[in-house]
Amino acid sequence: MPARRAMLYVPADDERKIHKAASLDVDSICLDIEDGVAVNRKSAARQNIASALKTVHFGRSERLVRINSLGSGLAEEDLHAVLNAHPDGIVIPKIEGADEVKWVCQRIAAVEQANGWGHGSIALLVLIETPQAVLNLREICTIDARLQGLIFGAEDFAGSIGAVRSLAATELLYARSAVVLHAAAFNLQAMDMVWLDLQDLEGLRQEALSGAAMGFTGKQIIHPNQVQVVQEAFTPSAEAIEFAKRVVEAAEAYQQAGKGAFALNGKMVDAPVIKAAERILERARAAGKAV
Ligand code: COA
Ligand code: MG
Repeated sequence: MPARRAMLYVPADDERKIHKAASLDVDSICLDIEDGVAVNRKSAARQNIASALKTVHFGRSERLVRINSLGSGLAEEDLHAVLNAHPDGIVIPKIEGADEVKWVCQRIAAVEQANGWGHGSIALLVLIETPQAVLNLREICTIDARLQGLIFGAEDFAGSIGAVRSLAATELLYARSAVVLHAAAFNLQAMDMVWLDLQDLEGLRQEALSGAAMGFTGKQIIHPNQVQVVQEAFTPSAEAIEFAKRVVEAAEAYQQAGKGAFALNGKMVDAPVIKAAERILERARAAGKAV
């Protein structure tokens, strides 16, 4: 699975933005046909995606497509228009249960087979942004091995439970935690919510760091200015990498000497601390750092 520290939404009816996105060196680009696109521009968005996937050079960036929700009545046409151009993955918004995941997976598998592409060559991520989705997380996570990630949709979720958004986001704590928990349990990625204030990059950085500290593996973004801040926040710092290396090296030596627990810099290190250090090194490697 590719690292997705930042996933940039691009309203796909806007060709200029598609080209801009392709130049940003962002981990993941999500060409949107859903809420970023007006109803009378859906068809332009579909056509732009089909053509951009064939002609635009996206560099190292992953190319995802967010279709409309299954309840909208537009999803089938969205899939029909984009799947044959082989996106790297599909994002389904506003899912409520596993049946919807199954429905989309069947359509993707059929197109893969018809084109002779490998089964699973098109990834799937789902937006968890309704109360039903949170309640049905376990079934959603286990219905199809194509699923690679859960994405938390804060604004839709807050609206659907009648919550008022706050800076501390305590009204979202249960749902955000549930997303991280299920992603970890089923070996999926977890993408945190969008920061809406385009000017406030320090606020974005703080929220990205708090998401990373909760266990999210990446964050959705909406503007080119947000790429670097978020990709950095989800890359372990040089100090964190250095310390993790020391923990792992020391652990090997102590294991040889028959000690499971030991002290490093005045703090106890045992198996879970070593595991956390190994995870930091893994994340650093996934972000392209030489460790
Ligand atoms: N993807 C790619 N390029 C983008 C972009 C995005 N999400 N957002 C802005 N840009 C480009 C603009 O086209 C502009 O390019 P240019 O200099 O070549 O003209 C440049 O970045 C600067 O943009 P700016 O003028 O600051 O923003 P804007 O007023 O054009 O757009 C938004 C503001 C919010 C409309 C825009 O950022 C956007 O569409 N974001 C995504 C919205 C979305 O997808 N929502 C649904 C998911 S939550
Ligand atoms: Mg949404």
